[in-house]
Amino acid sequence: MTKKISGFSKLSKIQKIDWLTDTYFSGKEAATQVLKTYWNTDKKLQQLHDEFIENTLTNYYLPLGVAPNFLINGKHYTIPMAIEESSVVAAASKAAKYWGERGGFKTTILGTTKIGQVHFTYTGDKTSLQSFFTATKATLIKDAKHLTANMEKRGGGIIDIQLVDKTESLENYYQLHCEFETLDAMGANFINSCLEQFAKSFEREFNADIRFRESELCIIMSILSNYVPNCLVRAEVSCSVNQLTEKNIDGKEFAAKFAQAIAIAEVEPYRAVTHNKGIMNGIDAVVLATGNDFRAVEAGVHAFASKEGSYQSLTHVTIENDIFTFWIDIPLALGTVGGLTKLHPLVKWSFELLQQPNAKELMQIIAVAGLAQNFAAIKSLTTTGIQQGHMKMHLMNILNQLDANPSEKEQATTHFKTHPVTHSAVVSFVNKIRS
Ligand code: MEV
Repeated sequence: MTKKISGFSKLSKIQKIDWLTDTYFSGKEAATQVLKTYWNTDKKLQQLHDEFIENTLTNYYLPLGVAPNFLINGKHYTIPMAIEESSVVAAASKAAKYWGERGGFKTTILGTTKIGQVHFTYTGDKTSLQSFFTATKATLIKDAKHLTANMEKRGGGIIDIQLVDKTESLENYYQLHCEFETLDAMGANFINSCLEQFAKSFEREFNADIRFRESELCIIMSILSNYVPNCLVRAEVSCSVNQLTEKNIDGKEFAAKFAQAIAIAEVEPYRAVTHNKGIMNGIDAVVLATGNDFRAVEAGVHAFASKEGSYQSLTHVTIENDIFTFWIDIPLALGTVGGLTKLHPLVKWSFELLQQPNAKELMQIIAVAGLAQNFAAIKSLTTTGIQQGHMKMHLMNILNQLDANPSEKEQATTHFKTHPVTHSAVVSFVNKIRS
């Protein structure tokens, strides 16, 4: 049977499922049933989800959990997190409690500028292009007024447009490098619409200018950049080294080992990638819960981590005069209006839980989630090791894989409070009860 089809998107949902289950699955009924199990009985809600993308067959669940007790700039938050990894929410909650008892998190917005570019090629005299651009810039901005008027009323809009000569990197390559302030919108649609308008006006004015009869201009593409090093937020925690002392932990020793772990992630890319992955466990979970674009955030963050020419830790630490300070600077282009924010009921719910933050506040909350996550990871790694806590949280997944019933789960949970969790230990424990 052919595994190729044309006109798939025109089929109804059930026709699509029929074709897929006939073509790719050995058990048609079972495969169909899995998809149907996740359909929402509320037809309107299901339709909303169906219409987010093309070819929707069903819904793909992730758990939505919360990490309470975050004290940020003196205000308490419970942070929503959508994530499948078992230990992330527990780690965030632990770090929130820990720092809540040591003055909480402080945050600062370092910038909110976003970037877009019109990429084009041009053959001709460079000075003429520069003077043409200087004379045309005001027209570009004026022609985009119908797009920018509302944003300007609220205090945002186009900040600047510059002509950039990139011909040293690539023959005939130039850009209009544009800066925007998009306030509470993530701004992708706003920026892309402005850029496409700039490109149109630029080309029109160019073609009308007799100086360029012998030259060629070709607009290649107009698109925002997800690299946003000037849409930046800092989150930090700080306390005296003594305050880091706990029952099995000497504050001074802990601070020194912690700082060494961060220093390693600053110089060793293999470690830095895992270190930053742990930060993104916290960041992505809140980005997802608030309906933001985690791919955009991921791309921008990792580019930022490489800005010095090698991939480095996003977090940093100092110990000065017995004061331990731990911070993150992270670029986050987020929206609290537009996109899914008013559409997805769980996103709306998350915003209410967060007390309706604007984009700047959301940047601060999410940076804190990343810093907290990294603190929890480094604390575990440099003290007990990561597996103890991780496997404890993973226990339920192993029990579910073994189809454990509620009583088996209860017995296992009690037993593994005092015994190390490994996959084989859980299997033998369950087998033992069953026999
Ligand atoms: C696991 O998801 C994340 C960690 O590996 C992060 C780290 O190593 O810092 C624990």
